[in-house]
Amino acid sequence: MSKYRRLVWMAALVLVAGLALAKTSNSECVQCHTKVTPGIVHQFHMGKMGNNAYMPLDCSNCHGSAHTNEKDYDKATFPTPDTCMACHPDKVQQFRAGKHDLAWYAMKTQSAWHSQPPEIVKQGYTGCSGCHTIGRKGYVGAEAGNTGPLKYDGGVEMSHYRYGNAQCDTCHTRHMFSKKEAQDPRACSNCHMGFDHPQWEMYMSSKHGIIWDHDGNKGWDQGGRAPTCQTCHMPNGNHNVETAWGFLGLRLPTKENVEKLAGAVKDDALKANLLKLAKLLPSGHYVDLDDDVQWTLDRALILQANEILDANFQPTERFFEIVVQGRAARGPKKFNELRNQMKGICQQCHSKSYVDTFFLNGDKVVKAADHEFAKAIQAVQGLYKDGILKKPKGWKWAPSVAQYYENMTPVELDLYLIYMEYRQRTFQGAFHVSRDYSHWYGWAPLKEHVNRILYEAKRMREEAGK
Ligand code: HEC
Ligand code: HEC
Ligand code: HEC
Ligand code: HEC
Ligand code: HEC
Ligand code: HEC
Ligand code: HEC
Ligand code: HEC
Repeated sequence: MSKYRRLVWMAALVLVAGLALAKTSNSECVQCHTKVTPGIVHQFHMGKMGNNAYMPLDCSNCHGSAHTNEKDYDKATFPTPDTCMACHPDKVQQFRAGKHDLAWYAMKTQSAWHSQPPEIVKQGYTGCSGCHTIGRKGYVGAEAGNTGPLKYDGGVEMSHYRYGNAQCDTCHTRHMFSKKEAQDPRACSNCHMGFDHPQWEMYMSSKHGIIWDHDGNKGWDQGGRAPTCQTCHMPNGNHNVETAWGFLGLRLPTKENVEKLAGAVKDDALKANLLKLAKLLPSGHYVDLDDDVQWTLDRALILQANEILDANFQPTERFFEIVVQGRAARGPKKFNELRNQMKGICQQCHSKSYVDTFFLNGDKVVKAADHEFAKAIQAVQGLYKDGILKKPKGWKWAPSVAQYYENMTPVELDLYLIYMEYRQRTFQGAFHVSRDYSHWYGWAPLKEHVNRILYEAKRMREEAGK
C-alpha cells in the first residue's frame, strides 16, 4: 500500500470513528449519570435525539448546565414545550392550538376539583392532575375576573411544581422520546380509558381495534388495514386535537334554535329570557342533525345542570370559563368544520353515503340520550323549586352535576352518574363503533337511572306532601 493510500485510509478511519463517537453524546452529564441513573442514559441513547449521527443532543439541552456534581442537582432545570420549540416549532404550535394544551385549565374549572384533598387531585399526579398534566399550567380565566380570551401568567403557576410541566412526554415518554411509540394507540390509553371516557376500551372492542391488534399492531399509517386513534385524531401528525361534539357532547344552541324555542313557549317571562339568550349565541346551522324545539330545551336544561346557564337561562361566569375559554362546546362553524374533516378521514376507507349515515345516526344517539337525561334533570330541579331539597351550604348552584360525587342525595348522585358515565358511554360508544359500550354500558344503565330518579322524586314528593 502506498504511503498516500495509507494516509487516506487513516483519515477515513478517524472520520468514521469520530462519527461513531459523535452518534451519542458523552458529556460529563452522561459520564456521571451512567453511574447515577444508568436507565435514563440508556433510554436517551435509544432515541433519535440521543443517538444521532449529525447532532446528538446532550442532557444539558433540556436540563441546563448549572448542575455539575452529586450535590447541586437542585440546580438542574426541567423542560417545558418552550424548550422543544427551539427545534420543533411546528409541533409545539399545533399542540398549543389544540385541546390538550387546555387540559389543566379545564380541570380547574370544575367545582368538584376545588373541594378535594390535594393528595387526591393535585399533588403527586395520582388523580385528576395525573392525566390533566398534559395541559399547560398558568392559564388565567373567568375565575380571576378575566372574561376575555385566556391569559398566560408567564410561568408563575408552573414554578410551583418542580416536576410535570413537560406536557410532550405524555405520548413520547422520556427519555427515548420515540415517534413510533406515540403513533401506537396504547400511548393514549392510560388517560383515554375508564369511567367517563373509555375510548381505549371502545376502540379495542370495535372492529377497527380488533383488526389493528390482529394485524400485528399495525395501523393505516403503518401500512395496515385499520385506523388508529392517531389516524382519526392526529391526521398527518397534526398535534392539534379537537372533535365536533367534544368530551361532554355539549355543542352550543344556535341563535336560530333558541328563537324557535322562544316562539313555541307560552310563558312570557321565559320567552323574554330565551330571546335575551339568543342574542348572545352564534348564528348558523349544524350539519347532519340540527336541534328541534324539544332538543333545544333538553340541551338548555343540561347546560343548567352544568352551572353554565342560570335558572333564567342566562349565561353564568362558568359559561365564559369552560365554554368560551376552555372550549368545552363548539358553535356551528367550528362543529361543521371538524365534522367534515373527520368524514374525510373515514372516506379513505368507506363510502361517502356509509359515512354520512353513520354520523347522522351518531347525532340521533346524542339527541335520544339528551332527552332521557333532561327528564331526570327536570324532576330533580322540581324538588328544589318546591323546597323538598335544599341547596347545600357554600354551593352556588343546585342541582349541579359539576359537583360530581360531592352530591349528597341518591337522586343527585344518580344524576351525576347519568351525566359522567352513562350518557358519555352511549354517544362515545356510538362514535367509536362499540355496540356494547353504547348499549349495555351506556343506554341501558342511563334508562335505568332515569327511571330510578323519576320513581324516587315521586316518592319524595309524597313523603313531603307536595
Ligand atoms: C458528578 C456526577 C454528576 C454530574 C456531572 C451530573 N449529575 Fe445530574 N445528578 C447527579 C446526582 C447524584 C443526582 C441525584 C440523583 C438522585 O437523586 O438519585 C442528579 C440529578 C439530576 C437530575 C434530576 C434532578 C431532580 O431534581 O430530580 C437531572 C435532571 C440531572 N441530574 C441532569 C444533569 C445534567 C444535565 C448534567 C450535566 C450538565 C448533570 N446532571 C451532571 C449527579 C451528576
Ligand atoms: C429532550 C429533552 C430532554 C433531554 C435531552 C434529557 N431529558 Fe431528562 N427529562 C426530560 C423531561 C421532559 C423530564 C420530565 C420532567 C418533568 O417531570 O417535569 C426529564 C426528567 C429527568 C429526570 C428526573 C425524572 C426521573 O425520571 O428521574 C432526570 C434524573 C433526568 N431527566 C436526567 C437526564 C439525563 C441524565 C439526561 C441525559 C442523558 C437527560 N435527562 C436528557 C427531558 C429531557
Ligand atoms: C436542540 C434541538 C432539539 C431540542 C431542544 C429538542 N429536540 Fe427533539 N429532535 C431533535 C433532533 C435533531 C431530532 C432527530 C431528528 C431526526 O433524526 O429525524 C429530534 C427528534 C425528536 C422526536 C422524534 C423521534 C423519533 O423517534 O423519530 C421527538 C418525538 C422529539 N424530538 C421530541 C422532543 C421534545 C418533546 C423536546 C422537548 C422536551 C425536544 N424534542 C427538544 C432536536 C431537538
Ligand atoms: C384517567 C385520566 C383522567 C383523570 C384521572 C381525570 N381526567 Fe378529566 N379528562 C381526561 C380525558 C382523557 C379527557 C378528555 C376526554 C374526552 O374528550 O372524551 C378529560 C376531560 C375533562 C374535562 C372536559 C374538558 C372539555 O373541554 O371537554 C374536564 C372539565 C375534566 N376532564 C376534569 C377532570 C377533573 C376535575 C378530574 C378529577 C376530579 C379529572 N378530570 C380526572 C382524563 C382524566
Ligand atoms: C375510526 C376513527 C376513530 C378512531 C380509530 C378513534 N376515534 Fe375517537 N372519535 C372518532 C369520532 C368519529 C368521534 C366523534 C366526533 C364527533 O363529535 O363528530 C370521536 C371522538 C373522540 C373523542 C371526544 C369524545 C368522544 O368520545 O366522543 C375523544 C377524546 C377521542 N375520540 C379519542 C380517541 C382515542 C383515544 C382513540 C383510540 C383509543 C380513538 N378516539 C379512536 C373517531 C375515531
Ligand atoms: C397526544 C400524543 C402526543 C403528544 C402529547 C405529543 N406528541 Fe409528538 N407525536 C405524536 C404522534 C402520534 C406523532 C407521529 C406523527 C406522524 O405520524 O407523523 C408525533 C411525532 C412527533 C415528532 C416527529 C415528527 C416527525 O415527523 O419526525 C416530533 C418532533 C414531536 N412529535 C414533537 C412533540 C412535541 C414537541 C410535543 C409537545 C409540544 C409533542 N410531540 C407532544 C403524538 C404526540
Ligand atoms: C396524559 C393524558 C393524555 C394522553 C396520554 C392523551 N390524552 Fe387526549 N386528552 C387528555 C385530556 C385531559 C383531554 C381534555 C382536554 C380538554 O379538553 O381540556 C384530552 C382531550 C383529547 C381530545 C379532544 C376531545 C374534545 O373535547 O374534542 C382528543 C381528540 C384526544 N385527547 C385524543 C388523544 C389521542 C389520539 C391521544 C394519543 C395519541 C391522546 N389524546 C393522549 C389527556 C390525554
Ligand atoms: C384505514 C381504513 C379505515 C378508516 C380510515 C376507517 N375505517 Fe371503518 N372500518 C375499516 C375496516 C377494515 C373495517 C372492517 C370491515 C368489516 O367490518 O368488514 C371497518 C369497519 C367499520 C364499521 C363497521 C363495524 C362493525 O362492527 O360492523 C363502521 C361502522 C366503520 N368502520 C365506521 C368508520 C368511521 C365512522 C370512520 C371514520 C370516523 C372509519 N370507519 C374510518 C377501515 C377503516
